[in-house]
Amino acid sequence: MRIGALVLICSLAAFPLQVRAQQAKTESPAAAATSPAPLNDAQVLGRRLFQQRCAICHTESTPGANRYGPVLYKELIAGNEDTMREFISNGSKGKMPGFKYGLETREIDAIVEYLKTLSRPAKRNQGAPGDVNVMD
Ligand code: HEC
Repeated sequence: MRIGALVLICSLAAFPLQVRAQQAKTESPAAAATSPAPLNDAQVLGRRLFQQRCAICHTESTPGANRYGPVLYKELIAGNEDTMREFISNGSKGKMPGFKYGLETREIDAIVEYLKTLSRPAKRNQGAPGDVNVMD
């Protein structure tokens, strides 16, 4: 009886782990479709920082809403890493804040690494009335 109870407790404790493992398995094909390579640690850090600090200006929010900064993707960044790091550190007068006091060098590097994993978004709303995005 005591052993039976122990087995029961152990299997209950293991249950959420099994479920999570199964979810991970079933999620992976879909995840692979949107992001071809899994992100490494630096890129994961970069993604988190980007979402916290940059996404508000650099990602499309709702259709019809204007984005403040340009969409960033790998072709913009790759090959221009130094320029981009400098841009992120110093910002652009009156348009984008500089992050040299708000982010560590390693964090800016991580964001740059993350941005290099993003593919160029498909153009949409081209010429649509009300779409006055001057940054493109
Ligand atoms: C307040 C809004 C805002 C925030 C927050 C912001 N940006 Fe920007 N960003 C802009 C604008 C606006 C531009 C275009 C500036 C210009 O043309 O002078 C820009 C331009 C850039 C560029 C240059 C793109 C190019 O083609 O030259 C990079 C790289 C960039 N941002 C990265 C970042 C990163 C990384 C962060 C977060 C750490 C960030 N930005 C946060 C508004 C923002």
